[in-house]
Amino acid sequence: MSIYLDNAATTFPKPESVYMAIDSAARVIGVAPNRGGYRQALDASRVIFEARESLAALLGVEDSARMILTHSATEALNLAVKGVLTSGDHVVTTSMEHNSLARPLYAAASAGVEVDWIPADSDGYVTVDSIITALRADTRLVALTHCSNVTGAVNPVAEIGAILRERGILFLVDGAQSAGSLPVDITAMNIDLFAAPGHKGLYGPQGTGLLYVAPGVQLQPLLHGGTGGGSTELELPAELPERYESGTMNTPAVAGLKAAVDFLLEKGLAVIHADEQLLVRRLIAGLSAIDGITVFNSGLKRPRGSVVSFVAAGIDPSRIGFLLDSSYGIAVRVGLHCAPLAHRTIGTFPEGTVRASPGMFNSDEDIDLFVAAVAEIVRKK
Ligand code: ALA
Repeated sequence: MSIYLDNAATTFPKPESVYMAIDSAARVIGVAPNRGGYRQALDASRVIFEARESLAALLGVEDSARMILTHSATEALNLAVKGVLTSGDHVVTTSMEHNSLARPLYAAASAGVEVDWIPADSDGYVTVDSIITALRADTRLVALTHCSNVTGAVNPVAEIGAILRERGILFLVDGAQSAGSLPVDITAMNIDLFAAPGHKGLYGPQGTGLLYVAPGVQLQPLLHGGTGGGSTELELPAELPERYESGTMNTPAVAGLKAAVDFLLEKGLAVIHADEQLLVRRLIAGLSAIDGITVFNSGLKRPRGSVVSFVAAGIDPSRIGFLLDSSYGIAVRVGLHCAPLAHRTIGTFPEGTVRASPGMFNSDEDIDLFVAAVAEIVRKK
């Protein structure tokens, strides 16, 4: 038996069409996109263009040229933070951020940017009021996660976005746990910069990611290099997406991402989200019924994503993870989940939690077997 419940780290398996698209792009197309003018090169360019179009359609963006393809959400967040902030700027963020956002902000702070870390509550939620109260005349950016990778808390992004747009403050959203899993409409939510990995809820391969850049937002590029076009100048082209996409694209991976997003578009995000919520409810109900288990963000009254963290009295999370794997063939992630600030917020630093994160291909039976395994581990401890 083998049950995979670590979809918050990376979704697995991927839809069959993803594997086929990767294979075909590597085997049949195989040449550099946006470079040569021969037919095969144009085919490669088309794959990249169509991936951007599919991502734009899924995430509520009109101009797909604004979907910058990166190698990860981490790269996208670094491009956003380092591209926007200069010494003396003020930034508002939260105590729930993953290191992919917290570390570039921390680095910015040591380079003269002032960063306010707004505390979340013990389930991982921040309020709109706490963000608004922290704003100042010189606030350049509000940067926060859409959905916590530790507690699944979903922040009120649309409400915050509307207020920030009115005040002319840039809004960066880390969509690592929301893109593909929760309904996201970047335009309606007034988001200026939206970062996401391709390999989590979007079901694409690892090594893919994106940054949406809203009209009017100027970023300092992270990379300078060849872009295919505009080669007469040493200055990077001003046009998007080329300005932020130096170097040859990983066409097979992007082809896989396109196939994945097309799969999601066909299935519909609302259906995917509703199915995952049923699994999450089953998980929380099952775990909460076990003596000695504390489930974080178990209230189900506020919006939440597909991440369920828990601890068991008297057993280290890493021991539970080891036993789940070695005795039951169940994969979960334990520890700090690259989000130490979030664990300090919910009181689980430094041991962390056990985190189960169902995905599109999990069943009720997977959840029941997982809950039974945890119950047995706790009973035998
Ligand atoms: N950020 C990923 C996680 O939460 C890797 O597991």
